[in-house]
Amino acid sequence: MTRARPLDEVGGPARSRASSTLLAVRGVSKRFRGVTALRDVSLTVDGGEIVGLIGPNGAGKTTLFHLISGFARPDAGSVTFRGQDVGALPAHEVRRLGLARTFQVVQPFVGMSVRDNVAVAVLFGRDRRRHGIAAAREESNRLLDVVGLAAAGDAAAASLNLVERKRLELARALGTNPALLCLDEVLAGLNPGETDRMAATVRGLNDRLGVAILMIEHNVGLVAALCQRVVVLDQGSVIADGATAAVLADPAVVRAYLGERRRPPSADA
Ligand SMILES: Nc1ncnc2c1ncn2[C@@H]1O[C@H](COP(=O)(O)OP(=O)(O)OP(=O)(O)O)[C@@H](O)[C@H]1O
Ligand SMILES: [Mg+2]
Repeated sequence: MTRARPLDEVGGPARSRASSTLLAVRGVSKRFRGVTALRDVSLTVDGGEIVGLIGPNGAGKTTLFHLISGFARPDAGSVTFRGQDVGALPAHEVRRLGLARTFQVVQPFVGMSVRDNVAVAVLFGRDRRRHGIAAAREESNRLLDVVGLAAAGDAAAASLNLVERKRLELARALGTNPALLCLDEVLAGLNPGETDRMAATVRGLNDRLGVAILMIEHNVGLVAALCQRVVVLDQGSVIADGATAAVLADPAVVRAYLGERRRPPSADA
């Protein structure tokens, strides 16, 4: 029987908690035909941080993730990760540098087992030279345990429900052994119990593995509970960036985004 590896060894040695800048987005703009999705956006994520990225629907949050992770190119501005300009790199090279992202619409390889979905990520991630297929499957088992999917390794990815697919999405991102994990609404669509468990998983990745996290999330309570810092996008521009409590109390943020969410039901009557 193989010995279960402690959580803080999963994905490699515990990482430095030093607060050096991991990700720096500077003056980034992106247009789609007539639509300006991002306008002169700048933000940073430091090692060890959990940063929330919030804003109304269509604010440009997912587009920013596409630019950061090599799935689209900025029209202007720069994206650096660990000091390296990644704005022009393809997605797989950005991933190998240690930046992983999940997708708002989760997209596992449905014809493969849950375990092999994660193994593929391990084989193509930052530590790819360390793993053959057997070792990648072993690493996958450990990561499935971290995200609470240990019992589902042999199941076909197609058979998973939404919650399980979100957990698999997380394990796949972790499989690449990221220093920075960009989460696009991984908590959306879960019921309160599932949300709490997933939030605890996310916090554990940061606390115990030292993975920095940039998370898009519409649930303001979760943002307040998980994030030390919050960046707010509205119509493609950053309208606030700072400590979570201060940002959530900022009148411009309340006006642009939170007002609707905080209005009590009786106010609609
Ligand atoms: N490939 C595309 N082609 C054309 N327009 C696009 C494309 N992708 C995004 N957009 C537009 O860019 C803007 C920002 O979209 P984006 O998906 O980044 O918003 P979001 O903040 O992630 O929203 P949500 O909270 O609904 O997920 C929207 O107006 C959207 O319609
Ligand atoms: Mg989005």
